[in-house]
Order: sequence, then C-alpha cells, then structure tokens
Amino acid sequence: MSGKTILVTGGSRSGKSRHALQLATNTNNPKIFIATAEPLDEEMTERIQKHQDERGKEWITIEEPIDPAKVLKDKGTNPSFILLDCITLWLSNMTMKDMTRQAILERVHEFIAECKNSKSDIIVITNELGSGIVPLDSSARSFRDIAGETNQLLASEFDEVISMVSGIPVTIKTSSKTHDAEKIEDKNSKHEFSPEKKQGLYEAIYKRRDMRHFISKPVDPEKLGRVLDAAHHAGSVGYMQPWNFLVITDPEVKNKISLNFKTANEEAAQKFNGEQQKLYNSLKLEGIQDAAVNICVTCDRTRFGPNVLGRNTVFETDLFSTCCAVQNLWLAARAEGLAVGWVSILSNDQLKEDLDIPDHIQPVAYLCVGHTESFYSKPMLETAGWAQRLPVEKLIYYNKWQGTSTDFKVQFSDPNKNG
Ligand SMILES: Cc1cc2nc3c(=O)[nH]c(=O)nc-3n(C[C@H](O)[C@H](O)[C@H](O)COP(=O)(O)O)c2cc1C
Repeated sequence: MSGKTILVTGGSRSGKSRHALQLATNTNNPKIFIATAEPLDEEMTERIQKHQDERGKEWITIEEPIDPAKVLKDKGTNPSFILLDCITLWLSNMTMKDMTRQAILERVHEFIAECKNSKSDIIVITNELGSGIVPLDSSARSFRDIAGETNQLLASEFDEVISMVSGIPVTIKTSSKTHDAEKIEDKNSKHEFSPEKKQGLYEAIYKRRDMRHFISKPVDPEKLGRVLDAAHHAGSVGYMQPWNFLVITDPEVKNKISLNFKTANEEAAQKFNGEQQKLYNSLKLEGIQDAAVNICVTCDRTRFGPNVLGRNTVFETDLFSTCCAVQNLWLAARAEGLAVGWVSILSNDQLKEDLDIPDHIQPVAYLCVGHTESFYSKPMLETAGWAQRLPVEKLIYYNKWQGTSTDFKVQFSDPNKNG
C-alpha cells in the first residue's frame, strides 16, 4: 500500500515546519528530510544549521535543490517518513536555472507521481504566496503564478492538505488513509511530551557529563533549590525517600574531604600497573575544592522502620532509590548549566567522621557542584583513552540471557549519534 501524502501550506512563519515535524514525532520509520534550500549566503547557512539542530539527529538530511523526485526514486521501497521543505525554494531554484514554466511544471508532475507511488508517508511544505498585492515586476508575477499553480496541483493530488494560520493547523482536505505516524500517535499522543519538551529532556541526558573542572563562580541558591527538589522527586522503594543532602561550602570541611580523596586515590593507583598506572595518575578525578558547593547525598537505611513496602526481598533498594535521586540531580543540574562531578574515591568511614554522619546513615554520593568554563563533549575517560562507550545494541538480549530477537527488535536510528 502507498503511504500518505500531506501538503502543509501557509504564509512565512506560520508554523509550517514545526507542525510537519510534530507529525513526524511518532513514526518508527527512518526520517528523511529533503532540503531544497541552498546555503548561498551566511544568513542562509545559519538558518539551515539552526533548522538541522532543531530537527534532531534522528533525521537524515538530503540536500536536493532541483530534483526531489530523484531522491524518492533512489530511496528504494522500504517505507520511511519523508519531509520536503520546501516547494517554494525548489521552484525558485529551478527558476534561477532559467528553466521554462513548462519544464518546471513537468518536474512538479513527475514529483507528484513519485510521491503517490511511494510506500513512505510524505509531507511537503509550501508557501501561500498569492495573498499579497500583485508584484510590479513581471518575473515576480510569473514566479507567483507557477507557485500558485504548483500548490493547486499538489493540493488536488495529495491525500491531505493542512493550512497553517498563525501557528494553528487548519485541515482543509482530509482522507481516510491513516499514515504510520498517526496510527502510533493515536495510541500515544495523549501522554507524549511535545517534540520541544522531549528534545529538552534528551539534551539533558546526552549532554550530562561528569565534570572535574570548575570556575570560581558562586551557585545561585534558588537554582540549587530546583536541582535538589528534582532529586527529591526521584522514585523510591515504598516511597521511602531515604535521602538527605548535606550541602558543603565550608573550605575547612572541603579540605578534610580533599585529604580523604588524596589518601584513597594513592591507594587506588596502586591497583594498576605500568602504562595504565601512568594514565591513571594523569587523570583529574575530583574538583572538591574548586567547585563552589559539595553535596553529600546520603541514604537513611532505617527510614520508615524495618518493614518498607517493596524492600522485603532486595534490601539494597533503598540505596538504588538514592542513586535515582542522584541521577535526577545530575540531569536537572545540567539543564540549569551547573556542572556535577561524582567523587567515589573516598573512605566512607572517614567521610562519615568528617561530616558527623551517624551509623545508620550511609553516604551514597559525594558530588562537586559548580560552574564550568565548558562541558566536556564526551566522557572524560573516553577522551583520555581509558574506556569507550559500549555499543548499546550489544547490551540488549531478548527473552532470556543472550537471547536474540525473533519478531520484535529494538531500533536505534544511529546508536553512535550521541558520542
Ligand atoms: C557511582 C559513580 C562513581 C563515580 N566516581 C567517580 C570518581 O570518583 N571520580 C571521577 O572522576 N569520576 C567518577 N565517576 C564518573 C564516571 O567516571 C563517569 O560517569 C563516566 O566516566 C562516564 O562519563 P560521563 O558521566 O561524563 O558520561 C563516577 C560515576 C558514578 C556513576
């Protein structure tokens, strides 16, 4: 069966691209973006780059200023989700190449035929150019006419036409065909975040880094409040909320922790030999004194008494819960522009003594929190050649340990896209 064809039309800045991208969010198929724009000047180059960043890395961008039908032909028969942005620039590119009206319209017909043959869902963006005054210049008039004629052809041949009016999609032609994205959207859309919100979340996840380099800039207490409240909203076994957050700013206390690290780090270095030990010793593994704030996240193993719902079989679930709080903290801090570095090379007994922590409380994470000049683009241990990210596909088994997939297989658009 062929896919669904959708035309999204409207004035400039009416929300066409945003709406088209929204339609694409729920498809499982590969997403192909056909860009007809050519980066002819600096401003255009910047615009194109901005749009590419907004789309996200799951999109494959194909630049084709003249022959988008060829892209559809070359693509093969596997269904994809294809978005062409935009018809007006395509027409303009052909006009600039001195193609005649007839030659241009032939290309338009050919493109429409390819769209209708394709198994992919195809969204095409165009502009409504004809609503303003009649241009004085004859070439502008004939371009406006070709654009109007093309829009009419597309609108009559495509399954669905959406007109964007001040950011609001108005469906002016519908069809009974449901495209792949819609089918999935029906199931999910009530609960799913908007593309912008999703992008924000994924950005925090992928751009979170363990940081050891800080600058001497104080941390805004309100920001820290938001970050700690995010931590406090982590899941916890039996809703136990076993955490406390010891916020440390006193240089004398930091000094003590620094000494603790130094001793523990010297011991840790002895575990490695030769070149590996040399590399270990060259690594910066803490920012205790440089970071404006240190936070010791603890777990009260006795909170809510001996019987906690859900903790009967796995006693350590209180510690797991505290780790969930730490991860929330780490992500919220990244969104707030705050760097966080986890220091585990410490004697816990010494830490408890230095921070007056009672016996039944276990320190889980010692975190350095502050501002940084720049976030590392990759894990520092990766850059230093200590370890590499494992391929995620290799970590997934089906139905049993080391089981391979049968009917259902998790898909990754590009497993290496986030470094
Ligand atoms: C439980 C835990 C303990 C860690 N301890 C240290 C540490 O003592 N020193 C350090 O430099 N990094 C420490 N890290 C950071 C890891 O090295 C880092 O997360 C890993 O290299 C991946 O880098 P990324 O966090 O930037 O993605 C710790 C991380 C975790 C989760």
